[in-house]
Amino acid sequence: MAGLVIPVCLGCYRADNKKNLKMQGMEVGLAGADGLEVADASAALRVENLTVRYGSLVALRDMSWSVRGGEILGIIGPNGAGKSSCFAAVTNSVAHSAQTFLAGEDVSSVRTHDLAARGLRRTFQQNSFFGELTVLQNAMAAIVRQHATSLPVSLLLPWRERATREATEIRAAQLLTSFGIERTYHSRRPGDIPYGIQRMLAVALAYGDGCKVLLLDEPAAGIGGGDMQRLADLLVDLRRRRIALVVIEHHMDLIMSIANRIVMIDQGITLATGTPAEIQRNAAVSEAYLGRDE
Ligand SMILES: Nc1ncnc2c1ncn2[C@@H]1O[C@H](COP(=O)(O)OP(=O)(O)O)[C@@H](O)[C@H]1O
Ligand SMILES: [Mg+2]
Repeated sequence: MAGLVIPVCLGCYRADNKKNLKMQGMEVGLAGADGLEVADASAALRVENLTVRYGSLVALRDMSWSVRGGEILGIIGPNGAGKSSCFAAVTNSVAHSAQTFLAGEDVSSVRTHDLAARGLRRTFQQNSFFGELTVLQNAMAAIVRQHATSLPVSLLLPWRERATREATEIRAAQLLTSFGIERTYHSRRPGDIPYGIQRMLAVALAYGDGCKVLLLDEPAAGIGGGDMQRLADLLVDLRRRRIALVVIEHHMDLIMSIANRIVMIDQGITLATGTPAEIQRNAAVSEAYLGRDE
């Protein structure tokens, strides 16, 4: 099996292998999974026994993983595997069952907005910006959203709002620059800047005023070349800043080069967990992409 290499794009996955895969998946179960890490009390985010159902469809079954500050956890799997549902469930924006712990604290029932305020943030597969605002204004909104003053206080203390505006503007410009978005783009609308920069902007806005855990759903979707390298550098830099990163990614060369560990799922089932090298060698993963029987 040593010679098997996972295709660069998971879109290469062959639908006719699915029946075979299901049996293989059941057989291998959590091959390579590290149960000790799942129970890691020092994890920035720990997810236990995550199951997501849409009616009769089980999108995710009994998934468990954890990520530490200063670590990149990759989640890979073919289209429809349940990757985005995993993020939706972890951020409590879709019905599910699971236990989730943020810095050791049970946050299983905490609402999406409050999770974000506590430092658990996500990006989406599709960019979602305030299209009518400038890039800088989007960044300002991202910074103030966690500390937004309630309406009555705003009315009573308008001077306070004015006083903080300038400081927020400076912080927003710093945020953008530190995420590789140069000043020349700050006064433009998000839709008018290059797509590669838009993907970096999505990560910057999720980070906002700082966070503990970033869930990134296909951050490199639609980009390549130099943009991909810049994004890789950014994610490695965030890891250096001790952020815990969970990255769903279809570009195998990217995720294999930056992730510390990878969880591979298919049809809602965790096929394997391990280092990039272990995942590359894992027979179940190879079969998932190549459909080998032997
Ligand atoms: N809101 C939804 N309602 C019903 N089915 C959904 C919904 N979202 C996702 N699904 C289904 O759940 C499965 C997993 O989807 P998803 O999590 O988006 O997979 P991935 O991100 O790995 O491509 C797919 O079969 C998809 O069609
Ligand atoms: Mg998805």
